[in-house]
Amino acid sequence: MPFTEGNAKNGAKLFKTRCTQCHTIEEGGANKVGPNLHGLIGRTSGTVAGFKYSDANQKKGVLWTEDALFDYLENPKKYIPGTTMAFAGFKKPKDRNDIITYIKEESS
Ligand code: HEC
Repeated sequence: MPFTEGNAKNGAKLFKTRCTQCHTIEEGGANKVGPNLHGLIGRTSGTVAGFKYSDANQKKGVLWTEDALFDYLENPKKYIPGTTMAFAGFKKPKDRNDIITYIKEESS
């Protein structure tokens, strides 16, 4: 299933409650437990300077497009077996569409 434009406002809420404990998204934001997500869309996985990724994330070599994130965020551990990202995933396509819409706006 491909990504379709969602609700950025709801996406912001989801990001705040589910991602910010481990990720910043603003330009120049710090790496926390996970890497800074500024400029995520259009970047290759595992390439944030100064962040120590797992081999699995680094070797995945996927280009983070909206559709790739749509698949990844359903079940990160299935998409990147061996990832250290402790997040179970969003089962609902709507949640994924909303959060990716937010990330698109906020990270570019
Ligand atoms: C408990 C901490 C934690 C939470 C919660 C978390 N992440 Fe992560 N995330 C990580 C870690 C750690 C990595 C690096 C994984 C690795 O190296 O295997 C990562 C990696 C990523 C990557 C790949 C980045 C890259 O440069 O390749 C994306 C995209 C991502 N997270 C998005 C999200 C989103 C969106 C959320 C919220 C829905 C989220 N994460 C929630 C810890 C977390």
